Amino acid sequence: MTTNGARPGTLAQEPAPTPLALLLLGREADTASERGVDCPGDLPAASDPDLVARARAAKAALGDRVFILGHHYQRDEVIEFADVTGDSFKLARDAANKPEAEYIVFCGVHFMAESADILTSAAQQVILPDLAAGCSMADMATAEQVAECWDVLTDAGIADTVVPVAYMNSSADIKAFTGRHGGTICTSSNAQRALEWAFEQGTKVLFLPDQHLGRNTAVRDLGLSPDDCVVYNPHKPGGGLTPEQLRAAKMILWRGHCSVHGRFSLDSVNEVRERVPGVTVLVHPECKHEVVEAADLVGSTEYIIRALDAAEPGSKWAIGTELNLVRRLAKAHPDKEIVFLDRTVCFCSTMNRIDLPHLVWTLESLVEGRVPNVITVDPETEKHAKAALDQMLALP
Ligand code: 13P
Ligand code: SF4
Repeated sequence: MTTNGARPGTLAQEPAPTPLALLLLGREADTASERGVDCPGDLPAASDPDLVARARAAKAALGDRVFILGHHYQRDEVIEFADVTGDSFKLARDAANKPEAEYIVFCGVHFMAESADILTSAAQQVILPDLAAGCSMADMATAEQVAECWDVLTDAGIADTVVPVAYMNSSADIKAFTGRHGGTICTSSNAQRALEWAFEQGTKVLFLPDQHLGRNTAVRDLGLSPDDCVVYNPHKPGGGLTPEQLRAAKMILWRGHCSVHGRFSLDSVNEVRERVPGVTVLVHPECKHEVVEAADLVGSTEYIIRALDAAEPGSKWAIGTELNLVRRLAKAHPDKEIVFLDRTVCFCSTMNRIDLPHLVWTLESLVEGRVPNVITVDPETEKHAKAALDQMLALP
């Protein structure tokens, strides 16, 4: 058997992608979305024994002209070369605080590079080492779908009372929509404050695109009932909701989710409690509500890192977030028992697109005077997206 299930010597029939499926990575191009696009580069082989030396030499040759950002979910081989690491929001801010760097190499995914472009000066170029590093969650809300949703809310007579709150994990178009309608961006660390602010501005919230972060924050942190939440399905007429349901709801949750965190289940929690007696279960709020309810602690990537830093030696932890980060945390804390929450959930495949060959190709291209894979947000989108990002920065 080949790994894709085809008989040896036959070519597997590739399924036709649905409109919202990830494109087969590296095979097709759709630069207008978060989906995979071609990598034009002549990449060094992953087996090249000189990759580390080549990355070091290129980085040294570029000096202060380049600033490398590494998201917490990146591979070790990439994190080794990051000037700073962090969650998506911290990294965008770090980029903005480095105006002397001509090139910001963003080792993360597409929406993060867009946010960095919005928050950095026009003189700086933001580079994504592999353009196929998109985010399936961000892809679940397109500008057209969200405009259609707003029409549905208008027809139901409630658009005036709805404040949009968009998770950082969304495209620049969705951030711009949010800015145009007086809303705010949030991250997993400030979602509670963002929702509290939004409910001071209006009586309902449209939360995009992660239904789980929206529901978890509304129910756990704001004390709303799960019945106050409805899920808007962009693939159904009217979102699959009646005008009465929309009028009765406080939280209108977009039907999107993270394909990594969404795979942790109640069984994962029950199984780890049996496997590791006395374990503390700590999960990211992108997990399903039942997982979050069954966990001991819930928090953003930065919260998880801080919790493990502060944990007692000998304590036992099961962590429900991306595997690269959990493995690194387990290595960094040999005095604590840190396990991954589920036996089958794996890496974020698009985060993992950025590897050492892509980083070397990017840095060597810059040394040779070519600037590859620049991520640029058009000025009109940038203006409105920045308004929503600035609103987040101004949250109390
Ligand atoms: P943060 O970067 O805000 O922790 O979000 C988690 C995530 O899924 C990033 O893609
Ligand atoms: Fe997107 Fe989830 Fe991957 Fe983050 S971990 S980039 S939200 S798919």
